[in-house]
Amino acid sequence: MKARKIKDRIYWMGSVDWDSRLFDSLIPLPDGTSYNAYLIEGNEKTALLDTVNPPMANELLAQLEGVSKIDYVVSQHAEQDHSGTIPQVLEKYPDAKLISTPKAKGILGDLLQIPEESFITVEDGETLSLGDKTLKFIHAPWVHWPETMVTYLEEDRVLFSCDFFGSHIATTDLFVTDEGRVYEAAKRYFAEIMMPFRNVVEKNLEKLASYDMEMIAPGHGQIFPRPAFIMDAYRDWTLGPPRNTVVLPYVSMHESTKRMAEHFVAALVEKGVRVERFNLAVTDIGKLAMALVDAGTIVVGTPTILAGPHPYAVYAAFLANALRPKAKFLSIIGSYSWGGKTVETLAGMISNLKVEVLPPVLCKGVPSEDAFKALDELASAIAQKHKEHDFT
Ligand code: FEO
Repeated sequence: MKARKIKDRIYWMGSVDWDSRLFDSLIPLPDGTSYNAYLIEGNEKTALLDTVNPPMANELLAQLEGVSKIDYVVSQHAEQDHSGTIPQVLEKYPDAKLISTPKAKGILGDLLQIPEESFITVEDGETLSLGDKTLKFIHAPWVHWPETMVTYLEEDRVLFSCDFFGSHIATTDLFVTDEGRVYEAAKRYFAEIMMPFRNVVEKNLEKLASYDMEMIAPGHGQIFPRPAFIMDAYRDWTLGPPRNTVVLPYVSMHESTKRMAEHFVAALVEKGVRVERFNLAVTDIGKLAMALVDAGTIVVGTPTILAGPHPYAVYAAFLANALRPKAKFLSIIGSYSWGGKTVETLAGMISNLKVEVLPPVLCKGVPSEDAFKALDELASAIAQKHKEHDFT
């Protein structure tokens, strides 16, 4: 795809990746993704903001054919999906200087072995004139790594945000046209990439609140012509209270835990609590992450195997602990045959979560009437807790 004009002398460059289905060998990409770079031509100097994932380098280099001079390459984020092609761009434009935060300089040096003399480091709030266009660099740590910054193009009121406000979507639409579709993709992205840093995201949102933006141009996915749409969504995901929802990731070997999960879902629904249930043997882990953004309570369902939780349940607990959702309550349900340390093992894995642990329901063998009664009681306790906290 050729470079595409966004505004006067501002161009999208980069690559739409239709085929990848996994990012960082971890994150599902059901709709592919894009790696967005941006070319900004002032009447004196030209800057390229970010590059592309190295396997797509040739696409960016082809788009740069005909661009005779680049004065500055701006690296907003050192992760290689944005920075990995910087060495080739600097080879093509040997006089270009590489702009980054001081912290990014060290990381880029480590990851890409870029020589020290290529760098100009910029402090928070520093500006760089391209002539009639001015770049303002705003340090925005932890969206997604500690070195990240975003760039505000003052005259055009465009915020270039790299990972911040990104979404993994492959499409030929440069701008957001279907906000519903992008909301889902952006929420998934927030859950997987930004949620662990929720407190810092909040600070970065505050920092950007005073900027007058005509559009937000992220490093993944489409450009937002209505910045309030994604800013408001981020505020809700970050600051909004948990919902009256239970997320139930479970796995079952011989149907006992599944029967408990089914009964528990019905009991919660009867008491007015929404449930998102995920069979960990088949689920899209990104969907589970997305559900965790809003959940008031997490309940993990697992059989006991080899004296502990099923490995899929361990994975779900590890994921929830790493993503640090805002849930307030947690419990465990499941079946065992002759004992074990399922509850102790899972409880020891959630130290990052600020949750009240509600009494688990474990039953021996197939669930008995007593087990179903205990599940009813757990559902009542959750409904009551959600009510007390005004979760809606
Ligand atoms: Fe899109 Fe943190 O890289």
